[in-house]
Amino acid sequence: MAKLTTLEEFIVDRQQEFPYASGELSGLLSSIVLASKVVNREINKAGLVDITGSAGEENVQGEEQQKLDVYANEKFQAALESLGEVCGVASEEDDDFVAFKSKEALNGKYVVLTDPLDGSSNIDVNVSIGTIFSIYRRQSEPGKPAELRDFLQKGTEQIAAGYVIYGSSTMLVYSTGHGVNGFTLDPSLGTYYLSHPDLKTPSNGKIYSINEGNIQLCEKGVQDYVEKCQDEKKPHKARYIGSLVADFHRNLLKGGIYLYPATTKAKNGKLRLLYECNPLAFIAEQAGGRATDGHQRIMEIEPKELHQRTPYFIGSEQMVKDLEACL
Ligand code: AHG
Ligand code: MN
Ligand code: MN
Ligand code: MN
Repeated sequence: MAKLTTLEEFIVDRQQEFPYASGELSGLLSSIVLASKVVNREINKAGLVDITGSAGEENVQGEEQQKLDVYANEKFQAALESLGEVCGVASEEDDDFVAFKSKEALNGKYVVLTDPLDGSSNIDVNVSIGTIFSIYRRQSEPGKPAELRDFLQKGTEQIAAGYVIYGSSTMLVYSTGHGVNGFTLDPSLGTYYLSHPDLKTPSNGKIYSINEGNIQLCEKGVQDYVEKCQDEKKPHKARYIGSLVADFHRNLLKGGIYLYPATTKAKNGKLRLLYECNPLAFIAEQAGGRATDGHQRIMEIEPKELHQRTPYFIGSEQMVKDLEACL
């Protein structure tokens, strides 16, 4: 059997692809990896310990926070703060960005944006959930606290992005802009191994993923596209988990399109540009796919606020183009 490559070996191998100091990227990724293992451990115990259910608070998105939302948020923030390369983080679960205060962190050159627990309504029913992260170079002067402008950067400025999926196995998928690679966690060893090298998504697919309960609230173009997916001569497969990471991951591997359009109730859709849409758009494009809000490439949208939402269509290039033609 060929020798398995660990994530750590892989990062060292590919250091030269990173345009900045090589140790910084491995530090950043290893903090994220460590936090993901801690979160993974707790998720696997959910049901046995008192970690499922609501935390009793609402987050800034107007959603009921789950205990694991809060837990995952704390773990990722703590791991990044202790690293010293990161000057601040912004998260779906916090009202505002957090600027770290320690001397090392004030000099940190990076900011991280994260959806610490994606699909949190699925925790209590044992369905796949995820974590999404996005890394940028800071814009403000090092030595001072991070500023809002460090976080409000276009997706094209991402230097790395990725996600962890806590599924039938736990996987970490990331890109630094040189293709996409996927790693699977061996839980007995606590080690991620390269399992999906140089991931490419099929240019066309047969899966469409949308919350069809909202279809009457969507614009006509979206309704027309979904109707085409249901053509009796060649029907597509409808697959919708309700965890963006899991729906995206399946479609990335098999070929498909994920749609979260604007509705009459939510005029910008539901998904968050900075924590969900940009990082997965970066992965999709690096794998040969496409991501749009229907009119504009997702990664070229100029963010105006941290928790900004956007309509979102992402997946196989041909399917996204066919959707765009309907709008
Ligand atoms: P989160 O759990 O991070 O708040 O994200 C929820 C998102 C996303 O994961 C999922 O695809 C979508 O909400 C599902 O929304 P609907 O229930 O409206 O379909
Ligand atoms: Mn949420
Ligand atoms: Mn989410
Ligand atoms: Mn979330």
